[in-house]
Amino acid sequence: MTAEPLERSLDHDDRLAHPGLPPEDLPLDLRTARESDLPELRRLDEEVFQDFAYPGFLLRQLFDMYEEHFLVLDDGTGRLRGYVLAATRTIGADSWILGLCVTPDRRRHGLGRELMREVLSRLRRDGIKEVRLTVEPANLAAIFLYRSLGFRPEEPDGGLRPDYFGPGVHRQVMRLDLPGGP
Ligand SMILES: CC(C)(COP(=O)(O)OP(=O)(O)OC[C@H]1O[C@@H](n2cnc3c(N)ncnc32)[C@H](O)[C@@H]1OP(=O)(O)O)[C@@H](O)C(=O)NCCC(=O)NCCS
Repeated sequence: MTAEPLERSLDHDDRLAHPGLPPEDLPLDLRTARESDLPELRRLDEEVFQDFAYPGFLLRQLFDMYEEHFLVLDDGTGRLRGYVLAATRTIGADSWILGLCVTPDRRRHGLGRELMREVLSRLRRDGIKEVRLTVEPANLAAIFLYRSLGFRPEEPDGGLRPDYFGPGVHRQVMRLDLPGGP
């Protein structure tokens, strides 16, 4: 487990001061994923991504490989409300965002952006120069979020990659250059 200088409570309130709050209003901690999160991460991934959820064994190994860039939103009750996962390569100093989600009850409160900003900050700190991701071309919520962070379609063809994940499963590839790394 790594040190957590960036770990923080997103609304700076002590959740113990709000024992009566409904689950959707509980303050969230944005922190690095832990091994003990894996069952809940799998449940969350299946809830949000359904047929595109990671198999449990792969999620486990992604955690083993990319723990420092695997961040969760923890509501303190045993439930996770979102995650982001970035895979890195030292050769080429690049990264792919392999997963981002926020549970439906917590969307449109800036949490997806917070997750992305935090992981991008860690990637920059770790010397990563380029970040890519794929997004379903009709997923405008995600595309607007990524564009607001500076991601742009990676040419050619406006980033569109037909059949990227198999026949009929198209994706757009987006890219962000991270200046200012070591
Ligand atoms: C994409 C997702 C992570 C966004 O999370 P979120 O916490 O709701 O996003 P935020 O509140 O941080 O929104 C940030 C920006 O994204 C855009 N956005 C987010 N949801 C949007 C929506 N439903 N419609 C239009 N724009 C949207 C907006 O530009 C927004 O900025 P604004 O609030 O200043 O207008 C969330 O919708 C989600 O989990 N979707 C299902 C999983 C998924 O599609 N993941 C991405 C796979 S590539």
